[in-house]
Amino acid sequence: MMSRIKKALEKAEEARREIVELTRRGGGVRKEVRPEYVQTRVVPVDPEVLRRNKVFGFFEEDALTEQLKILHTRVLDRMEKLGGNALLVTSALPGEGKTLTAINLGLSMAREFDRTVLLVDANLKNPSVHTYLGLPAEKGLAHVLLREAEIPEVLINPNLPRFVVMPAGRTLTGSAEVLGSPYAEGIFEEIKTRYPERLIIFDAPSLQTADPLVLADYVDGVLLVVEAERTTEDQFRSALEMLQEKPLVGVVMNKFRF
Ligand SMILES: Nc1ncnc2c1ncn2[C@@H]1O[C@H](COP(=O)(O)OP(=O)(O)OP(=O)(O)O)[C@@H](O)[C@H]1O
Ligand SMILES: [Mg+2]
Repeated sequence: MMSRIKKALEKAEEARREIVELTRRGGGVRKEVRPEYVQTRVVPVDPEVLRRNKVFGFFEEDALTEQLKILHTRVLDRMEKLGGNALLVTSALPGEGKTLTAINLGLSMAREFDRTVLLVDANLKNPSVHTYLGLPAEKGLAHVLLREAEIPEVLINPNLPRFVVMPAGRTLTGSAEVLGSPYAEGIFEEIKTRYPERLIIFDAPSLQTADPLVLADYVDGVLLVVEAERTTEDQFRSALEMLQEKPLVGVVMNKFRF
């Protein structure tokens, strides 16, 4: 009991320090925040791998980066209005482009000077964030949820400023039940409150599974990815219905063919 309280106090102190740091930048001048990843493991990424995998959010000049900027500005705007820091990315069907969108969006946001982004691979059915970024798939969220690891152990900074990744680690059978357990609820609460200034993006499976509905309880807003020319209006509508009262911060029309 004592140690839990002590831990909570330490965490509060850690969060307070970060807030103080952030509020010290004054004068309306945007100073770049470049946190030192003392605990977080830094793993270099290969720009060639990123390019090959269509991770364009990393690159400075790309026709897509402008589009991403518009999207990320809108999303951040709505998140701010909602007063939350956790975003869920899901879709009606598998393979509509959730993971690629989540990564590109996160990178685009992280490029802005004052936003640190934590991308959590919460797709415990088909994890792929690490593949897109060319990161090792060692421990991740799955291990944290099974009490086999602590949160700081599984975080990776892919050598891009202000961008932190929590890989899934591995697939989990019965993932929805695991995600919905009281222990998981505590873990998600910790992920969200540990660094209140951080924007957290959860990459989820599609709504053909229960996982995103469970995860929706832990986030403040949902971004729905729709594959243009594939998802029907009915499928889109039923996806919206399933998400019900969860605020929708945006719909991304993906894989448009011009
Ligand atoms: N805008 C895009 N343009 C071209 N290809 C894309 C685009 N978005 C996604 N893809 C491709 O579509 C495939 C599926 O993308 P992604 O892995 O992001 O989907 P997903 O919705 O996360 O899938 P899952 O439901 O399995 O998690 C990948 O091959 C990816 O490269
Ligand atoms: Mg995916």
